[in-house]
Amino acid sequence: MTELKTPLIVVNFKTYAEVEGPKVLDIASACQDVAAETGSCIVVCPPLVETARVAAAINIPVFSQHIDSKAAGANTGWITARGVKAAGAVGTLLNHSEHRMMMYDISASVKAGNEAGLKTIVCADNSETAQKVAAYEPSYIAIEPPELIGGDISVTDARPEVVREGVEAVRRIDAHIPVLCGAGVKTGKDVRKAIELGAKGVLLASGVVKAKDPRVVLRDLVARF
Ligand code: G3P
Repeated sequence: MTELKTPLIVVNFKTYAEVEGPKVLDIASACQDVAAETGSCIVVCPPLVETARVAAAINIPVFSQHIDSKAAGANTGWITARGVKAAGAVGTLLNHSEHRMMMYDISASVKAGNEAGLKTIVCADNSETAQKVAAYEPSYIAIEPPELIGGDISVTDARPEVVREGVEAVRRIDAHIPVLCGAGVKTGKDVRKAIELGAKGVLLASGVVKAKDPRVVLRDLVARF
């Protein structure tokens, strides 16, 4: 696994049809190739059921899309931190807008992730949530206004103040937690703007997963650091 460094480009594959079954390796390999070509840090979040397949095939960091705080044992259908670690993940997303969690579950899952040696990215819909989850000491916080997710206008253009305020809110609690931003991010210009707003990277999905040629998009994303 290549080391995690900022600026971080986190590509969430969600559960798009484009990444079902073995097809997932096409986009995962594109991410790996562009990371190798450019020396940039690209993290992939495959569909949960494909975590092990992807982690076995590539050498860039793989994060799971979610974990629960359950321990190993009789917990049918839950996703354990130890389980995703054993599958080859080095980190996990938590509290994505499409997989919201209660505050106490976020806190418990960050703890479970830490205990298993996983990095955690906790998503937050605004600066208030970002400030609250900063107290749980995740590895990263990703600000994503839900209404812009999957759209064509980047959060960095549509709601730059949300990114700026999120960065400040997290800094007030713990200046060491890097803040990422996402929703509508698709280009290197968007990444550049995110960094100017104080973010240390981006979390994106459709711009890469649904692209005609994901490599072209990925190269552009990392071109303007
Ligand atoms: O997790 C990334 C995300 O929710 C943003 O999605 O498609 O707007 O890049 P998208």
